Amino acid sequence: MNYIGSKFSLIDFLKSSIYKVLNENGETRKPNEMIFADLFAGTGIVGGSFKEDGYSIIANDIQYYSFVITKHMIENNGNLDKKRCNELINTLNNLDGTEGFIYNNYSFGGTVGQEYRRQYFSDYNAKKCDAIRNTLDEWLEDEVINQDEFYFLLGSLINSIDNCANTALVYGAYLKKLKPKAQTKMVLKPLQIMHGKVNCKVYNEDACKLINNIRGDILYLDPPYNDRQYCSNYHILETIARNDKPIIHGKTGLRNYESQKSLFCSKSQVYSALENMVAAAKFKYIFLSYNNEGIMSTEGIESIMKKYGKYYVFTKDYQRFKSDNNENRKHKTNRTVEYIHCLIKDLED
Ligand SMILES: C[S@@+](CC[C@H](N)C(=O)[O-])C[C@H]1O[C@@H](n2cnc3c(N)ncnc32)[C@H](O)[C@@H]1O
Repeated sequence: MNYIGSKFSLIDFLKSSIYKVLNENGETRKPNEMIFADLFAGTGIVGGSFKEDGYSIIANDIQYYSFVITKHMIENNGNLDKKRCNELINTLNNLDGTEGFIYNNYSFGGTVGQEYRRQYFSDYNAKKCDAIRNTLDEWLEDEVINQDEFYFLLGSLINSIDNCANTALVYGAYLKKLKPKAQTKMVLKPLQIMHGKVNCKVYNEDACKLINNIRGDILYLDPPYNDRQYCSNYHILETIARNDKPIIHGKTGLRNYESQKSLFCSKSQVYSALENMVAAAKFKYIFLSYNNEGIMSTEGIESIMKKYGKYYVFTKDYQRFKSDNNENRKHKTNRTVEYIHCLIKDLED
C-alpha cells in the first residue's frame, strides 16, 4: 500500500538504528524476552518486521482500516490455512459485482443524477468492492469464516482496492479521468502472512490514551508529521473497512471524522501530546520517527526527550513521498531529512 509516512523504504535505517541503540546500551535480553510497541502502525510494516525478528508486539492505530490490516499482519501466524485462504480469495474474485454503497457514492456510473459525479473507482471496481465487502460480513455472521480469516480477507480487499483508486494517492480528491491503473480490473491479492510470536495484540485506539494502559521494552512512535489528518485523507478506506454506510458530504464524499482527529496534526497541541506520551511511557527505549519538514522542530523534540533520560538522534537523507509532489505544495527540493530520535528513559522501578 502506498501510504503517507510508510516506513517501507526506511525499514533498514530504522532497524539498524534501533539495534545500534540496544547494543550500545548493553541490552542482553533476546527478542523473545521483549515487547515492542508500534502505536502509530499505519500499514503495520514496522511492527510486522520486529515480529519476524521474534519480539512480542503491541500495535495500534486510530484508523480502523489500519487496525484491520495490522490485525492480520501482527496477530495472524500459522493459524491461517494457506490452501483454504487461497480458495476463499478465489471465490471472492469470482463474485459478480453489486451496486452497493461504494458504487452508489464513489463511482461515475453510480452517481448519475447526483450533485457530485465522483469517480474514485471505475464502475467495475466499485461494484466488485461492494460485492466482496458485503460477502465478508455475511460469511462472518454465518460463521463461514472466523475472525482471523475475516481480517486477512478484509485487509487484502483494502490493499487491493487502494491499488486501483483513481487518485493521486490519497482520497482528498479524485482525478477527472480514470488513470490507467484505475482502469484495470481489481483482483483481490492476498496479504502476506508474517510469522512470529503468537502473543501479539493490536488495538484501535488513540495512542495518547492507550499509552497509559500498556508497558513494554521498546516503544516506536511514528505519528503524522504535518497538519494533514489521515482520517480525511483515507476516508474511503475507512468506510470500506467499517462498511457502516455513513452520511457523507461534499465533493469528495467525506464521512464525519471528528473523533479520529490527531493531536499530532495540531500545531498548538503537538508538543504537549508528545511530552505527555513520553512522560507516561512505561518503556525503557523510546524511538520517534520524524522529518525536517514536520510541524515539530528537531530542537523542540530534543528538548522534550532530553528531560526524560539519555537522548540521541540518527539522520538519513530521503526521497520525498510521491503524493507530496502532486498536491498544491511547493517544495524547494525532492529530498527531506528523516530523523530517528532516541531516548533511553530513566524509569522508576
Ligand atoms: C506516519 S503514519 C505511520 C506509518 C507506519 N509507520 C507505516 O510504516 O506504515 C501515522 C499513523 O498514525 C495514525 N495516527 C494518527 N494519530 C493517531 C493517534 N492519536 N493514535 C493512534 N494512531 C494515530 C494514522 O492513522 C497513521 O496511520
